[in-house]
Amino acid sequence: MRIKNICCIGAGYVGGPTMAVIAQKCPKVKVTVVDINEKRIKQWNNPDVEKIPIYEPGLSEIVKEARGRNLFFSTDVDKAIDEADMIFISVNTPTKTYGIGKGMAADLRYIELCARQIAAVAKTDKIVIEKSTLPVRTAAALRDILDSTGNGVKYQILSNPEFLAEGTAVEDLKNPDRVLIGGEIETEEGREAVDALVNIYASWVPREKILTTNVWSSELSKLTANAFLAQRVSSINAMSELCEKTGADINEVSKAIGMDSRIGSKFLKASVGFGGSCFQKDILNLVYIARTFNLKEVADYWEQVILMNDHQKRRFAANMVQTMYNTVAGKKIAILGWAFKKDTNDTRESAAIYVADYLLNEQAEIVVYDPKVTEEQIYSDLDYLGSRSGDANRQAVTVVDSPYEACEGAHAIAVLTEWDEFKELDWQKLYDQMLKPAFLFDGRRLLESKSKKEIGFEFYAIGN
Ligand code: UDX
Ligand code: ADP
Repeated sequence: MRIKNICCIGAGYVGGPTMAVIAQKCPKVKVTVVDINEKRIKQWNNPDVEKIPIYEPGLSEIVKEARGRNLFFSTDVDKAIDEADMIFISVNTPTKTYGIGKGMAADLRYIELCARQIAAVAKTDKIVIEKSTLPVRTAAALRDILDSTGNGVKYQILSNPEFLAEGTAVEDLKNPDRVLIGGEIETEEGREAVDALVNIYASWVPREKILTTNVWSSELSKLTANAFLAQRVSSINAMSELCEKTGADINEVSKAIGMDSRIGSKFLKASVGFGGSCFQKDILNLVYIARTFNLKEVADYWEQVILMNDHQKRRFAANMVQTMYNTVAGKKIAILGWAFKKDTNDTRESAAIYVADYLLNEQAEIVVYDPKVTEEQIYSDLDYLGSRSGDANRQAVTVVDSPYEACEGAHAIAVLTEWDEFKELDWQKLYDQMLKPAFLFDGRRLLESKSKKEIGFEFYAIGN
């Protein structure tokens, strides 16, 4: 089966970059990315490629190369579905905020809407691919909806979870550790569909890195991978608190254990807490699934990864207050970095949101600088928490374009995202502008401590 036409529903952090790379690597395949969000599609079509809605190193160059050739962005979802042989579903699957499973289970309504739309529009056979992270057995629900139209159209459902990390999405897509494709490999039609997708990836990924499994293994592998990664961060963060009490240094501990080849050195960086759209959502989802099967110990075990992460964010903020003589009321605090990690403009579940919220509850005045996150996004993140009115957020929080402006007259600086540019700031100049004693809290172990202390900062770094 040769695929000529791909449609991707959802032009977000997963769909956008993934389809851009597929279009670049498979110039003969027409790739159309559709979204119901008109503003987002307009941004993807902006003639100035630097203004596309997602910031990822290397992405704008690829969009420049492929857009208009074989990569298209559109709001005409029906047309793209109708034309496609292969449809990726890449819509958001947030944690449910209502009803059964509230705060835990994945909200599948967007996925279901996609399935219903495909069922209503499709006139020819389609391969439908789950790209969004989904609870195990979602493919079965998709199949039920698609197969019950009775119009004779045949569907193959595949699971092809995305493992890209934001900030390195393009690199991860071009050189993935592995590509995972789950399908009905026990039937001939299922195998054909899997092969069709394997052939797409094989245009640039070595065959031995493309794994094929049954659908359920593929779905569960994605949740497991994210749970393991998040668990490493929570484990090292747990040790960071112990380091602060004992005089050990978490960076030295990380290095020492990371050199054990069984442990490995990656993902052992202590921080103010992990964020991002995946870790928390996927673990909550895993916990929910385990509870559904009455696996209490399994559920409790994984839930602890989240509880530890919440604790880490809270204790960082609480330590700031305590260090600043138990009050930050009316004090100006500069937050450097709002994104959940460097090299992305994504702020979902960013630790900065929770630290800021804690400090605002303590009546601090906050000034934020982030090189890529917009003012609108920062206010929307705070408003979403619902801790206070939108007006109160706008009164207590200012967003500025320069780190120097942020720190002018501040009592403290909190570094909450590990942007490289923060290392290169003129720290003497920042210090000179601040009130004294000038507190500096490094939530990322980004800054070299000795020089900051020599300048005169009261310096605190996580895990030291
Ligand atoms: C993650 C997975 O890595 C990716 O495979 C999956 O497809 C989506 O979820 P992402 O959320 O984009 O990717 O970023 P990641 O690099 O995993 O970082 C997640 C969070 O953990 C960030 O807030 C990051 O700062 C934090 N982190 C990561 C640490 O605090 N310490 C580390 O050592 C690594
Ligand atoms: P992710 O990080 O998983 O890519 P995003 O929220 O960045 O998540 O992107 C998901 C996109 O899917 C959003 O732009 C949203 O508008 C889009 N979307 C959700 N439901 C539908 C739908 N039924 N049809 C088309 N697009 C949809």
